Formats: sequence, C-alpha cells, structure tokens
Amino acid sequence: MINIPKGTKDVLPDKSYKWQFVEKAACETAEIFNIKEIRTPVFEHTELFQRGVGETTDVVNKEMYTFEDKGGRSITLKPEGTAGAVRMFVENGLSSTPMPLKSYYITPCFRYERPQAGRLREFHQFGVEIFGAKSAETDAEVIFAASTFLEKLGINKTELQINSIGCRICRAEYNKALKDYFRPRLADMCETCRSRFDKNPLRMLDCKEERCKKITADAPKILDYLCEDCNTHFEKVKSLLSAQNVAFSVNSRIVRGLDYYTKTVFEFISTDIGAQGAVCAGGRYDNLVEELGGAPLPAIGFAAGIERLMLLMENTGADFGENKKPLIYIAGMDEISRSKAFSLTCGLRARGINAESDLMERSVKAQFKYADKLGAEYVAVIGANELEAGAANIKKMSDGSQTAVNFNEIYSYLIKEKN
Ligand code: HAM
Repeated sequence: MINIPKGTKDVLPDKSYKWQFVEKAACETAEIFNIKEIRTPVFEHTELFQRGVGETTDVVNKEMYTFEDKGGRSITLKPEGTAGAVRMFVENGLSSTPMPLKSYYITPCFRYERPQAGRLREFHQFGVEIFGAKSAETDAEVIFAASTFLEKLGINKTELQINSIGCRICRAEYNKALKDYFRPRLADMCETCRSRFDKNPLRMLDCKEERCKKITADAPKILDYLCEDCNTHFEKVKSLLSAQNVAFSVNSRIVRGLDYYTKTVFEFISTDIGAQGAVCAGGRYDNLVEELGGAPLPAIGFAAGIERLMLLMENTGADFGENKKPLIYIAGMDEISRSKAFSLTCGLRARGINAESDLMERSVKAQFKYADKLGAEYVAVIGANELEAGAANIKKMSDGSQTAVNFNEIYSYLIKEKN
C-alpha cells in the first residue's frame, strides 16, 4: 500500500461539495468585481520564482519543489500564483490591452514546509491580481474583493491588518535606519536574522524567535520613513477603507514573506485556527512586472489559502451549503422492472433531474436501504403491477406519503412537488 505524500490531502467525495462552495464564492466574487479568470501552468522555469519571489525568501531558499526535467531544464512547481500571473501578462503583451487588467486564479501551490494545521505542502490559492493601476482606489478595491469573498463564506471574525512598506526610494532610507539599529544588537540575534541583515533587513522584523522579537520591538518603524508619495497613498487607502466601513488596524510589523511587495501590504488574520492565522494576504508589487521583463507597470493583488479558509469555516461552524442528493431513486423489483427503472432514470436525467437507480443488481429491500443512505427525497418502486399499469408508486420520504404517477408524468410530478 502506497500512502499519500506528507503534507498533501485527498478530497473525498463526501467533502468535495465544501470545496465547490468555496470555489463558487470565489468565482461569484470575481464576477461582481469584473475580474476575469486566468490559468497558468503548475510548473514554471525555476528562475521565474528566483527573480520574482526573491532569492532571500524562505519560499525560494528552502521550500520550492525544484527538479530537472528530461531536457535538463530547472523546473519548479509554483509556490504561489503571482509570479506566473506576471509572466503570463508580460509574455502575452497584455499591457497593450485596456488597463487595468483584472485577473483571478484558483490554483494548487507547492511549498516544502513542515506540515501542521493549516499548513500543507500542496495547498490551493484563490488569488486576484490587478495590473496597470496605481491609484489608492485599486488597493481599496482589492481589499474589498478579499473581504467580499470572506463574507460570502460566512467568515466575519478575521482581523484586517494593513501596512505600507514604501517604494524603492523610501525603503532604501528605512533599510539604512534598520541596519543602524540592528548592527550593535546583531550578536544577540538568531542566525537567520544575522543572515538577513545584509540582504534584506526588513525581513528581520518577521522573526518569531523570542530574543529577536524583543530586539525588533523597538526597531524604527517603516511608517516614519515613508516618502511623501507613499505616505499620501497610504493615507488615501486608509480613508477609502474607512469610507466603506471596512474595519482594519495598522500593523507596522507586517512585512510579508515575499520580496516583491511595495507600498500597501495587508493580511486578514484569524485567531480561530492556531498558529497559521493568515487566511488571506497580499499587497502592491509595483516593480515586479518590470523586474520580470515588462515595461514598468504598477500591480496589486492578494491570495487566500483555501484549506486554511475551510479549516476556519469548520472551526467556526460556517455553512458550506448542502451536499446535493438525488431527488428521486427508482427501484426495480426484478430484471425487467430494473431495466424500466433505468430507462426512466435516464429520461429524467436528460431533463436535468438528479435521479438514481440500481447499478448493483440489489434486491428491492437493499435498493430502498441504499436510496435512504443517499438521502433521495422520493423513491419510486417498479414491479410487474406497475409495469402493467404504466405507473410508478412514488414515496415521499419526508412524510411517507405515496402517490401513483404515470411513467410519462414523473418529471412533471417532481417539478410540481419541488415548487
Ligand atoms: P502568501 O502570504 O505567501 O502570499 O500566501 C497567501 C495565502 O496562502 C496565505 O495567507 C495562506 O492562507 C495560504 N498559504 C500559504 N502557504 C500555505 C501553506 N503552506 N499551506 C496552506 N496555505 C498556505 C502569496 O502567495 C502571494 N502570492 C499573495 C499575493 C497575490 N500578493 C499579491 N498578489
């Protein structure tokens, strides 16, 4: 027996309706915001993520599923959706289409992480990427799309935290201030922080080690270093959120784990699913299109982890809608009746009804039992008498009432019953 790889999950047939519920909410959200679906490959050239996500990130350094294909190319299973979306945008010359370009995806992602509740090696993201718009309204719109999606899922207990991590210009100033602050304290910090000091001091603020957290608590804050443009932008984003009554708090420690971010970054955090509380996260990435070979173009997006959202929904008793059941099960008493039951079932399906009949050559009693397990709302039985009368006896399972219905009127009977 070969087991499923660590950190991956099967979706069993009695659970798939929950996935479909979440995916439908994602598609409906996209539709309201006029965001169109894109699909990009599950694997890309490794270099895309090295350049896009960033060499100093944990995702690229430690977590990528990278392999050489038979042609000797280095290939990586996508650890996130943004880099592939940007590659698609640049490669297909989409900057010549009317801007903004509003796109979304639902995709598997792969990260070699230590699995725990809400953290998998294969997980799925619903992501949104908007290209070409630099206005603060765009940032607000992306955040509204995320919160609309969460609302549709019945998730209302997350906290929205936002921050601005500035642009190339103000970040350079801030990095300098951070380094000045950390330099005399470096000896007391962990190895990861020491290695980040030179290349990416901002990431030191994200360290979870107690001794480092104590030191970073008093570090200079990025918001004090924003240039005028970034500051004005951030103030506008905040006022747009407030104007729509979207609750948020500013958390100057949100720096995000991926290198491409500029200006606004945000996370929707839950306290109901343990340590991995970020259910949805994103931000602006105004340099990435250019860094991946396109003309300079602003962009912003977010991604929500579907498994994490489902865990949160399960923990908070959210409603996943219903697992669809057959409207009618048509049982047959003998060989000839079974084949009539089968052809009536086919006829109902052709008219859009969820109908079932026996495929297992069961006794009529066993067919009834199975119909009950399936949760069929109506069960019809056909035997020699029914064949002769040209009518089936239809039992309404909720109250046990029975009605004889002509074979050719079963469809209209069911429709009438449903209304
Ligand atoms: P991220 O924060 O790395 O951002 O991931 C986004 C979301 O994916 C997380 O908030 C979480 O819900 C889910 N997630 C991440 N890693 C795992 C995992 N190992 N297991 C389960 N769920 C996970 C990004 O990926 C960016 N591309 C988001 C973005 C889009 N920024 C701009 N556009």
